[in-house]
Amino acid sequence: MAVKKNMKSKLFVVTGGSNGFGRAVVQKLLEKNHFVISLSRSLILKKEVEMYQSTFFQFKVDFSKPFSSATQRFLIRTFSKINLKKIDQVCLINNAAVIHPVDRIENLFEKEIQKHIQVNLAAPIAMTQVFLKATSLFKGPKIVVQLTSGAALRAVEGWALYCASKAGLNMFNQVLTLQNSPDQNFKAILYSPGIMDTSMQKNIRSVKKSQFPLIEDFKRFKKEDQLKAPEVVADDLIRILSDFSKLESGQTYRIG
Ligand SMILES: NC(=O)c1ccc[n+]([C@@H]2O[C@H](COP(=O)([O-])OP(=O)(O)OC[C@H]3O[C@@H](n4cnc5c(N)ncnc54)[C@H](OP(=O)(O)O)[C@@H]3O)[C@@H](O)[C@H]2O)c1
Repeated sequence: MAVKKNMKSKLFVVTGGSNGFGRAVVQKLLEKNHFVISLSRSLILKKEVEMYQSTFFQFKVDFSKPFSSATQRFLIRTFSKINLKKIDQVCLINNAAVIHPVDRIENLFEKEIQKHIQVNLAAPIAMTQVFLKATSLFKGPKIVVQLTSGAALRAVEGWALYCASKAGLNMFNQVLTLQNSPDQNFKAILYSPGIMDTSMQKNIRSVKKSQFPLIEDFKRFKKEDQLKAPEVVADDLIRILSDFSKLESGQTYRIG
């Protein structure tokens, strides 16, 4: 879909835009005529995004591997393709994450630990860095969003890595807020989406009780239809991001 002449759009970079919550966010942003750059291991089928050829860019990245210069080059190249004069706000949504491995701490393998921390903590930090560099000449409003979880604040047995990585991201967001506090055009927020009906929840329900003692609760949440549709949560985040003046840097926003 072509962006209308003289109409300003926003530019969003979304990690993990191929599935679950990220996919819902990407779809809704494209429908609103925004520019979207998505990074994940799998790509959205061409035919599903055919009508957004001029506003949608996607790139295959495995965030469990150390951050590559190819990803950096892709972002910088794509930013230069988009005429930033047409853009009145840029935003990074660090959404890609994994829950696995779920188990008692003594059963975790070192390789799995490294991969988890790479995807959930090191990659969002590296993405924030590249985003800040790639948009350094853009003087309009800039937002960085980290997807967080209640597990960043509350210990959950079996989720040692997930709790630790999300807690790390929360603290990273505090430092990001602090270092940019003199800049009125920069906001860094956390968004806690609540329990959503995505493959992450399916993965949570697939483990053994010995690995995750709360598993029956999570099976019940699904059975009792307590999981929110990712599309509903995506609407909530996009509504929050739509008014830059009301956003408070350093805050955690939660689905109401
Ligand atoms: N679902 C919940 O109940 C819930 C609750 C609280 C917080 N959250 C948070 O919300 C966010 C979205 O979760 P979700 O439920 O939508 O998860 P999801 O359905 O599992 O989707 C995760 C996304 O991350 C991408 N991803 C995973 N590993 C990757 C890797 N190694 N490299 C690149 N991309 C990778 C996946 O794409 P590919 O597979 O194509 O790579 C996918 O698009 C996460 O940050 C999660 O922690 C979720």
